[in-house]
Amino acid sequence: MARRVTKAIFPVAGLGTRFLPATKAMPKEMMTLVDRPLIQYAIDEARAAGITDFIFVTAKGKSALEDYFDTSAELERTLTEAGKTDLLETLKSTYMPSGAIAYIRQHRAMGLGHAVWCARRLIGDEPFAVILPDDVIDGPKPCLQQMVEAHAETGGNMVAAMEVPRDKVSAYGILDLGSANGSLLRVRGMVEKPATEEAPSNLAVIGRYILSPQVLTNLSRAEAGAGGEIQLTDAIAEEISNSGNVYGFRFEGHRFDCGSKAGFLQATIAFGLSRPDLREELAEYITDIATPRIAAQ
Ligand code: G1P
Repeated sequence: MARRVTKAIFPVAGLGTRFLPATKAMPKEMMTLVDRPLIQYAIDEARAAGITDFIFVTAKGKSALEDYFDTSAELERTLTEAGKTDLLETLKSTYMPSGAIAYIRQHRAMGLGHAVWCARRLIGDEPFAVILPDDVIDGPKPCLQQMVEAHAETGGNMVAAMEVPRDKVSAYGILDLGSANGSLLRVRGMVEKPATEEAPSNLAVIGRYILSPQVLTNLSRAEAGAGGEIQLTDAIAEEISNSGNVYGFRFEGHRFDCGSKAGFLQATIAFGLSRPDLREELAEYITDIATPRIAAQ
């Protein structure tokens, strides 16, 4: 049995330029799907997987994330006095135990690998998870929980994996596959953002990882890779030759790319439709506006 995973890194230092001007004064992780910010989905998924230590790698302009996870005595009092117990419960569901979240600054934007490496002192010598809040995954069981269960059997390093269209491979880390055993795939190679014609497959890394501390050691001597940045993918790929213990995990669930506008809008609609209080009205509206447009084409 592999050692239990209790720590997770959330790289949240990115500028979110794809969502300008919204992200000019607001972290992109605070953008909301229906009424919950992206970071809340990521935290909930981590909690469901048994994570107890949450490490945010942040940067300048991200203080709203810290405020968000604070308690709010004023709101609590107002809601209690007004007897709004549902909202009070919603508010309390955002509270985290004191000391559960640590914030580390990434002083320069040098890539995902560098952001993860910034948290090395808080990880120490144990396996850890990485969650990219841009990737929102809706599944029968939270994705990281599926991975933690699989990792308990395999140990080593594990990345979430999903097929993407061939013409999109250059936006992802791409896996070169060895043997498969159900949802577990042995990885023979990994390349960050390959050109379409050079990609070993169309199986992409999605933003959920369970990694061995050795990856942090690899990162400490990593050189710039794709896009001139220190890439997490390269540091994991090193483990294929070091330990041979790198797995892709085909998760169950639907992944929304909330780092893109189209993906974010799709997630908004999907999560809206899954909410009993909104479903009917939203479905009716979508049918109303979509039907005449489709008919007109
Ligand atoms: C990052 C990783 C990439 C992975 C992707 C998943 O890329 O570097 O390997 O496939 O997340 O969303 P980014 O989207 O930050 O460019």
